[in-house]
Amino acid sequence: MKEEQLKKILNDMSLKEKIGQLIQLSGDFYDSCDISLGPNRKLGLNQDSIDLCGSVFNVTGAKNIRKLQKEQMAKQPHHIPMLFMSDVIYGFKTIFPSPLGLGALWDEKLIFKIYKNISEEAWSSGNQVAFSPMVDIVHDSRWGRVMESPGEDTLLNSRYAAAMVNGFQAELKDGKGQAACVKHFAAYGAVEAGREYNQVDMSISKLANEYLPPYKAAVDAGVKMVMTSLTTLNGVPSTGDKWLLSTLLRNKWNFQGSIISDYASVYELKKHGFSVDDKDSAEKAINAGVDIDMKTPCYAKYLEELVAENKVNIKVINSAVFRVLKLKNELGLFEDPYRNCSNEQENYNILSKQKRKLAREVVTQSSVLLKNKDMTLPLSPINKILLVGPYANNKNLIGSWAIHGNPEDCVSIYEGIKNKVGSGRVKYIQGTNLEDNQFVLSVLGNNARNRLSEEDQIKQLREINDKAKSSDAIVVAVGEDSTESGEAASKTNLHLPECQKRLIKELAKLNKPIVMIVISGRPLVLTDVEPYVDSILYAWFPGTEAGNGIADILFGKVNPSGKLTISFPYNEGQEPMYYSQLLTGRPLGLSQHTGRYVSRYLDAPNKPLYPFGYGLSYGKQIEYKNLKISNRVIKRDSKLTLSVDIENSSNWDKNEVVQLYLHDDAASIVQPIKKLIDYKKIPIKRNTTKTVKFTISPDQLSFFDNNMQRKLENGVFHVYVGSSSETTLSTEFELQK
Ligand code: NOJ
Repeated sequence: MKEEQLKKILNDMSLKEKIGQLIQLSGDFYDSCDISLGPNRKLGLNQDSIDLCGSVFNVTGAKNIRKLQKEQMAKQPHHIPMLFMSDVIYGFKTIFPSPLGLGALWDEKLIFKIYKNISEEAWSSGNQVAFSPMVDIVHDSRWGRVMESPGEDTLLNSRYAAAMVNGFQAELKDGKGQAACVKHFAAYGAVEAGREYNQVDMSISKLANEYLPPYKAAVDAGVKMVMTSLTTLNGVPSTGDKWLLSTLLRNKWNFQGSIISDYASVYELKKHGFSVDDKDSAEKAINAGVDIDMKTPCYAKYLEELVAENKVNIKVINSAVFRVLKLKNELGLFEDPYRNCSNEQENYNILSKQKRKLAREVVTQSSVLLKNKDMTLPLSPINKILLVGPYANNKNLIGSWAIHGNPEDCVSIYEGIKNKVGSGRVKYIQGTNLEDNQFVLSVLGNNARNRLSEEDQIKQLREINDKAKSSDAIVVAVGEDSTESGEAASKTNLHLPECQKRLIKELAKLNKPIVMIVISGRPLVLTDVEPYVDSILYAWFPGTEAGNGIADILFGKVNPSGKLTISFPYNEGQEPMYYSQLLTGRPLGLSQHTGRYVSRYLDAPNKPLYPFGYGLSYGKQIEYKNLKISNRVIKRDSKLTLSVDIENSSNWDKNEVVQLYLHDDAASIVQPIKKLIDYKKIPIKRNTTKTVKFTISPDQLSFFDNNMQRKLENGVFHVYVGSSSETTLSTEFELQK
């Protein structure tokens, strides 16, 4: 439809009808399937608001959506189609590894492909807008939502944001794919103490340098929608923050799409103590820049009155409605309100062979090998394996944010190993439960799966003892229950539950090589179990093809290449734990002060157990040599080239993520010890050496000050190259006028 026609419709709409476009409800209002996550309360809406509502979330399935769309359009005076939105975070029906695992790929091309495939399934099923990408920077693994983000780094999350948006939106012009909605604007990932929905406080320079760039990258890539955060940022709830939504996002960044509040967050403005009642909340949210009110009665009940009282200008309403209509138009809904969704499309796309194949490939590349003593891995296919643990034969491998996925579609680790080596070579005993902490169990509603009684556990331990005698290796699959990470899943204890630790310690007595596979959304503290096992493979929530992908790694079909994009703490007391910290005036190891008066803990190292960027592969690890720089001086209009040789002297082909970090030696706003400024994933054949080159330009040396002004300051910079953030291979150069 042409824009003039759209404007005509807008001019012809009543105020009530316009307000309807700014309301989003969940499927239960329409007796349709509803899988919305969040506090449910009666909204007290009248039938008019429900009939005129412009969008629905988390309703799914072509049949459902076609029916609902038809009914709703018939009720609307201008027969405007509804928008169907949903949480499509790392898969729709074919579930890929949870996003921290996708982070470990360090590969935007692959991310683009994954998200294009994800949106093919979702679009076939009638879903038009994905509440994704979630690119909050995450520094604190106590927060359950670290699992939804690609990780702790600004550059990586920014590149991923663009790749994900491009993947979702690649085929929009052809009436396929989905509009993307980047979230949660802004800085939700910095909730204080890692406690869910808690406040966020930070300097403007930190916000601008570290937290905002990923959202900005999504905007620059043409994302169609932005979702606010449920939290406050420096005392102002994001959903009512005019500076954030209008001054910055709309005016400075020139964002043209729609802004949607997060679930119930307009209503929650009152709870924060920011507004006095629902009417005040509606006024504050719309005037701050929120176009669509997700699941609260505030806009529906009060916008009309607010316009009549001149508290909200009708122009504000018109602009918001026009943006919603424009999105519907861009999606082609005025021509085909169903966007071609159908059973046939679903059958063709959903869980197709090709999608499963891709998901399997991604599992092999996103799993991170954290330890491999004496090359315990890969296992020989002629080995006899004893497979134990609560995740050994558990199909629930998709994590809590794969809300459309079905665990029944997953390949368990047991199945994956049997597919690979045949059932004669592997014996399985569960051995223990996923969770034994009564407090956690009571909050989770006691729904942890496959529970064994204490008696059964003792019995099974005896069996394990017996069967271990005839086995060559033990594989133990442990981790967190899927409900223990994701939204509303903050924890202060990141260790494995006692029952799982006990099992691992018992296994260690059997004198067999032990491979530990960890299934979890977040980094767990592995300090106390690491000494008991020979190898550790961190597989996140690996998704539908979990077992097949893991078996490909276990038996050496694929050489692991995943690298952490989040630091694994030595213990929880270190959180927030991230590599790009500031030095302090008394840095450990570099201070003139000796002994006590340095920045350190008395009872733990400063370093994480496993650092950002870390991950092993099979065979001798890559060596970095011959770091060279083209010039010692860089001018404001020039560039430098850096080159390094990477040597693979092993008998394995590899994929190495070569990482480039920067430190600004002296700056008016002090800069991190190291900051990732570039990376490249390089395939390298066995017994070969490759030269890898990076270009450094002055814009990579600049930063924002506390007035959000960009600064480029002369002086000396150090660059570091290597295979993790702990690399020490470095050289220096100077920026001069
Ligand atoms: C609340 C979550 O914060 C957000 O990420 C999600 O998209 C909405 N609920 C809708 O489910």
